[in-house]
Amino acid sequence: MTRRRPLIAGNWKMNKTIQEARDFALIFQEKVADVTDMDLVICAPFTALAALKDELEETIIHIGAQNMFYQLNGAYTGEVSPLMLVDLACTHVIIGHSERREYLKETDEMIARKVKTALEVGLTPILCVGESLAQREEGKALGFVRGQVEKDLADLNSDELSKVVIAYEPIWAIGTGRTASAQDAQEMCDAIRSTLAGIAGAVAQEVRILYGGSVKADNIAELMAQPDIDGALVGGASLDPQGFAELIRNAR
Ligand code: PGA
Repeated sequence: MTRRRPLIAGNWKMNKTIQEARDFALIFQEKVADVTDMDLVICAPFTALAALKDELEETIIHIGAQNMFYQLNGAYTGEVSPLMLVDLACTHVIIGHSERREYLKETDEMIARKVKTALEVGLTPILCVGESLAQREEGKALGFVRGQVEKDLADLNSDELSKVVIAYEPIWAIGTGRTASAQDAQEMCDAIRSTLAGIAGAVAQEVRILYGGSVKADNIAELMAQPDIDGALVGGASLDPQGFAELIRNAR
């Protein structure tokens, strides 16, 4: 079986000023300087990216954004181009987070265009998928998430597909302190991988699938031990540099 390199990404969401981002970076980079066996990414608000470029560009820590537009430039007031993210030394970008699907009404069609455009400029998209509590209780979680994967990755060839990172984030586990059980998370990540195999065959074995939703220093090890979970997308527990470094240590 292909050995996939683990990836742990922090999602700061709408948190941290420029100074707070700098303060985080100074402490965090020291704490994780020896972590060379996995990819580490900090996905910061747009306004903090320039500061992170200054502080982290020469370190092992990758910089990511939390959104982008699906065009490279033009009359799109208020949007941010993927080329602007590359300019800010970003290597990764979160796409289709459930909070954007819910509050900003992002559709699978928009998300598919964003994933494609991110790949075109060399950014690694971290595509978020995940079901609501109602869908899980009705037994519709697997079918719903499979559908999201198919729609959001439409139009990619297998080379492009191999570069995508997928984050399975059940909506009911985000920010609630309620983590999916390692078994449920594994079941979904396995279903996502078999969906990918249906689309692109053997390449599915190369795609990294993360779990997200109330990941903490004390539950990361059990999640990482699952065969189809290759890392985590971490919200609340990525805001404190010491705590996030400890979580990363526990993931190894
Ligand atoms: P959480 O957020 O870790 O705070 O639950 C995860 C996410 O939304 O990416």
